[in-house]
Amino acid sequence: PLQPVLLSGGSGTRLWPLSREAYPKQFLPLVGNDTMLQATWQRVQAIASCAPIVVAGEDHRFLVAEQLRQIGAPTPAIVLEPMGRNTAPAIAAAALQAMAAGQDPVLLVLPSDHVVRDAAAFRAAVQQALPAAEAGALVTFGIVPNAPETGFGYIQAEAGQGVCKVLRFVEKPDAVTAQHYLDAGSYFWNSGMFLLRASRYLQELARFRPDIVDAVRTAFASAARDGDFIRLDKAAFAQCPSDSIDYAVMEHTDAACVLPVDIGWNDVGSWSALWEVSTQDGEGNAHHGDVIAIDSRNSYAYARRLVALVGVDDLVVVDTDDAVLVAHKDKVQQVKDVVAKLKAEQ
Ligand code: GDD
Ligand code: MG
Repeated sequence: PLQPVLLSGGSGTRLWPLSREAYPKQFLPLVGNDTMLQATWQRVQAIASCAPIVVAGEDHRFLVAEQLRQIGAPTPAIVLEPMGRNTAPAIAAAALQAMAAGQDPVLLVLPSDHVVRDAAAFRAAVQQALPAAEAGALVTFGIVPNAPETGFGYIQAEAGQGVCKVLRFVEKPDAVTAQHYLDAGSYFWNSGMFLLRASRYLQELARFRPDIVDAVRTAFASAARDGDFIRLDKAAFAQCPSDSIDYAVMEHTDAACVLPVDIGWNDVGSWSALWEVSTQDGEGNAHHGDVIAIDSRNSYAYARRLVALVGVDDLVVVDTDDAVLVAHKDKVQQVKDVVAKLKAEQ
């Protein structure tokens, strides 16, 4: 069986002022009419054997439940984290939940804030990778890189067709190393989506980070079950070290495999990424809401009220009820610094 797991714990600070702590990007309709969480479920429901397991922060429990209910998804199990401890513990909690009924399904672990333009190709890739995952591989989906991004994991794979053994996995290399990998031409980006058997993941995590597995097991064993919500025990989960699956497991395991895919993937990590995945007019402008662009090129505008751009290129303008962002399109990575500054001033 194939058990989808939707990770919904991120805060998306680079998409400020739209993405907020109380309302991060996975709950927003950034591309199209559905929220990114809704689109994530819709992308995989046809191949899922059961309702999703969602792992999210306690504060977002009603957003998760309501947004999935709205699209008629089967009632999910919602594992709630009292605080964020990154993806290695979150996926471990999902694995324990998936195995609670005495089964050991293959988990399809999905960030709930990515865009996949070719959903059919993605589903086909999952089916293709399933036998390897059933046999114990920790499978990731590889993306052909087109820039020396430092925010991604880089994967060197054994040459071959289809699912290949990972020779090396390097999470978030520095800029020089990333450029080196790009030039080498033989590396993929880690898409951050994984296909792995629940017990196998716990086994590998226990090999490298027994401290994380122990803490999550304790937090799960004494979780409070309240309807569809599974509340991890706060005191136990607070003791859990924070780490991502990439650093904790993927860099060290020898069971990693990668299936290179061409699925129109984008992790929408910034406003320029959102511009890239949005429909653009003849001048390269993309917008959401009521926008007039005159003598302007390659800009992105998000409008609550009417927004007009005149004679400007490469701008990002985001208008919300209580904040306005005006940024150069090449500098949007620094938007997270605004959030940091606001936090520091609080
Ligand atoms: N439930 C839960 N709890 N979810 C979390 C937590 C947490 O503590 N932390 C992160 N997530 C969710 C995020 O919402 C996101 O959907 C996903 O897990 C990945 O976390 P990110 O924080 O966005 O990771 P990243 O973008 O820095 O790096 C990962 O993704 C890249 C591709 O986008 C890595 O897997 C990289 O190797 C990969 O290239
Ligand atoms: Mg991400």
